[in-house]
Amino acid sequence: MSTSQLSPIRKVAISTGGGDAPGLNAVIRAATLSAHKRGWEVYGVLDGFHGILSPEEYPDGGFVPLTRKRVRGITHLGGTILGTSNRNNPLKYPITRPDGTVEEVDRSDEIVRGFRLHHIDALITVGGDGSLAIASVLAKKGLRLISVPKTIDNDLDKTDVTFGFDTAVGFATEALDRLHSTAASHGRVMVVEVMGRYAGWIALHSGVAGSADVILIPERPYDIHKVVEKIREREESGSKFTIVMVAEGATPKGGGISVVEHEAGRAERLGGVGEKVAAEIHAISGKETRVVVLGHLLRGGSPTSFDRLTALRFGAAAIRGLEEGQAGVMVALDPPHVKYVPIEEAMGKMKMVPMESDIVLTAQDLGISFG
Ligand code: F6P
Repeated sequence: MSTSQLSPIRKVAISTGGGDAPGLNAVIRAATLSAHKRGWEVYGVLDGFHGILSPEEYPDGGFVPLTRKRVRGITHLGGTILGTSNRNNPLKYPITRPDGTVEEVDRSDEIVRGFRLHHIDALITVGGDGSLAIASVLAKKGLRLISVPKTIDNDLDKTDVTFGFDTAVGFATEALDRLHSTAASHGRVMVVEVMGRYAGWIALHSGVAGSADVILIPERPYDIHKVVEKIREREESGSKFTIVMVAEGATPKGGGISVVEHEAGRAERLGGVGEKVAAEIHAISGKETRVVVLGHLLRGGSPTSFDRLTALRFGAAAIRGLEEGQAGVMVALDPPHVKYVPIEEAMGKMKMVPMESDIVLTAQDLGISFG
């Protein structure tokens, strides 16, 4: 659609969905200030799309004006001032029937009606792959929108990187630094489990930067005997301790992924592979083994300056895009530029670690085992 065909923008809304990632508040601030600069009003939807689907649950109606004051001093804050949710996907919204059965219903029409009711001219959705799928449906139903990619997992295709990833990698690297001294003092095996869903980006980057001895990622199913081999090799060369970095989505050769729970209306929750790997190492080698699950610590805290800058660039680019007449697109980092890619091209494609990448080759040259 060309700019001339689009009605002028007066009011925009922003929603943040999916698991939080450091940098969300920076996007909100940049988008809000950029919109104000153009004379547009900005509103925030609370808790993903929940604020628009169930406004009666909120004292302020689930829809809050984003004033300059409201976005002051938030660039460095983790989390999202709007709240978020990775439950209750509006496309598969779980409704419990009187007989106790759960049915998943599509509530996207209600979202479109809600925005029309508030006279919203354009929407910015900030989220991961699940949010992109929702955005694509809303765009097809006529909402003028731009998506901003976010996830600590860095598994979204079509953008060089997502904000939140650098902060997560920094924290995991520091954790490895700290674990080295205690592992060495006790001559133990330390197994460190990190998030990342079905991709191994966090484990790989922090594992290499933090000098892990073994890195297990979903892209390469592991053989536990190879892991033990590495531990023995190290022992023979005088290193009595070993640090094993495990991505939550890592799987043993011929085995399945470790899942904590399945719940209607949301993605399966991963976890537990660290315990599994540690138990097997102990059973085979007899080595004293400990497990550290970094979990949600990776999502908390202040974004690094790289993540802040990326998030600020994305927020401002989303508003510039709307002004230029872009719609149904996702902003993406294509260094040194921020560009717009059709949501359809970006969604549903997971970016996995290429095993031939130079970071994997570097790890191998450093003697790190992938099991
Ligand atoms: O996608 C981000 C992420 O942090 C994943 O790495 C992890 O598997 C998942 O979210 C955990 O989600 P929850 O917030 O439901 O624990």
